[in-house]
Amino acid sequence: MYFFIILCICAPFCSEASPRIDLTFPELASYDGYTSEIHTVETEDDYILTVHRLPPKETCAADPNKIPIVYMHGMYESSDDCLIPGPGVGHCYIYAESCYDVWVPNSRGNFYSRSHKTYNPDEDVDYWDFDIDEMALKDLPVIIDYILDVTGSTQLGYVAHAQGVALLLILCAKQPQYNDKFNFAVGLSSTTWLNHAKFSIVALEEELSPLMTLASDVGLNAELFPRGGSIQKVIQLLCGNVLAYPLCSSLIFATFGYNKFQITPNVLIDIVGHAPSGTSLKNFNRWGQMKKNGFAEYDFGEKGNLEKYGQAKPPLINLGNVTMQWIFLGSENDNVSDLRDLDTLMSYLSNASKCVVSDKSFIHLDFIYSKNIPKYITPVVLSMLNNKTYECL
Ligand SMILES: *[C@@H]1O[C@H](CO)[C@@H](O)[C@H](O)[C@H]1NC(C)=O
Ligand SMILES: *[C@@H]1O[C@H](CO)[C@@H](O)[C@H](O)[C@H]1NC(C)=O
Ligand SMILES: *[C@@H]1O[C@H](CO)[C@@H](O)[C@H](O)[C@H]1NC(C)=O
Ligand SMILES: *[C@@H]1O[C@H](CO)[C@@H](O)[C@H](O)[C@H]1NC(C)=O
Repeated sequence: MYFFIILCICAPFCSEASPRIDLTFPELASYDGYTSEIHTVETEDDYILTVHRLPPKETCAADPNKIPIVYMHGMYESSDDCLIPGPGVGHCYIYAESCYDVWVPNSRGNFYSRSHKTYNPDEDVDYWDFDIDEMALKDLPVIIDYILDVTGSTQLGYVAHAQGVALLLILCAKQPQYNDKFNFAVGLSSTTWLNHAKFSIVALEEELSPLMTLASDVGLNAELFPRGGSIQKVIQLLCGNVLAYPLCSSLIFATFGYNKFQITPNVLIDIVGHAPSGTSLKNFNRWGQMKKNGFAEYDFGEKGNLEKYGQAKPPLINLGNVTMQWIFLGSENDNVSDLRDLDTLMSYLSNASKCVVSDKSFIHLDFIYSKNIPKYITPVVLSMLNNKTYECL
């Protein structure tokens, strides 16, 4: 309470908002001294998606052995994640610094991919009728084919956080020709099975899911947690200021799994200017179903499932077709992606291995925002890119 009062009195005089707090991907890159590009792709169902790129720097010698790398954001997130911690720390800067061609897609419905040829996301609720299935099976393949086409490369590397991992798994499971388009993938704090997840958002998703699954018959298509929306404004009010750092760390990020040992105050401020970045309510519901059903197909409710799948519960997503190489990075203290759930995922995959980060304080968001990313995370990706082998750190 006292803190609030001090904050309110002090904020106008001594607040020191970050100059990077609300910069877009191209603005962030430019502010940080990098060149970036904006690419646009269209899906078969007319969604218009933004793919950002940090092309190889001019000082980099052309090297045909260097495959492009794709960074795929997690749920409620965007391409900005890989730039937010800044040069030398953010994933995309580190790969670009090593002369890799870095591609950064945005899934439908988020801040950068909130567009469609005929639907208006502000007015047409049908725009919001999607979940990870559409992101995996309609967005990702056109993005991948577009990147391969523009770069002339035959394969890509893939590094993804949380939901981004689920997307490529679903794609390779259902359209196995995509396995060959990847040399390897690195999954960070991967979310598929959530049996042991303790994260409060996941718990809420599970609570609401039966209700929402019932309601989806009458239409439950809506936007959730848009950037600039009320949730983000509250977070920003509380955290978007160096002074509010202690308050913010104890309140808001307790919910999101914030870890002060890993995320520095200035980065925290930039995070709250960029996240959450929006998704659909249906996608929120889908992850609640996942907490209940495992990494399973969409749950239509008992009657719908009997019609669709011939059984009361939705079947697990069959991962038998996923043959590409996966390396998972997890942490003992991660309350979202529990190592036991990761083991369940790995038991269904033919070529998967894992590293448990030796710094035990790592949690879900630290894989993308921690000051220690260059110590524990990106060396694994760079070593795979350079040497097709890696050591756990
Ligand atoms: C595996 O891939 C084939 C196409 O090659 C597809 O017909 C089949 O449905 C896939 N299996 C599963 C379980 O999705
Ligand atoms: C993770 O969950 C455990 C048990 O609920 C809790 O004690 C711990 O504080 C949580 N850690 C974080 C970082 O949220
Ligand atoms: C996984 O795939 C890689 C690359 O093809 C290969 O070098 C490795 O031996 C495979 N590992 C397993 C366990 O199949
Ligand atoms: C790749 O291997 C070489 C030779 O062992 C080593 O010097 C280099 O550091 C490795 N690169 C990465 C990124 O691990």
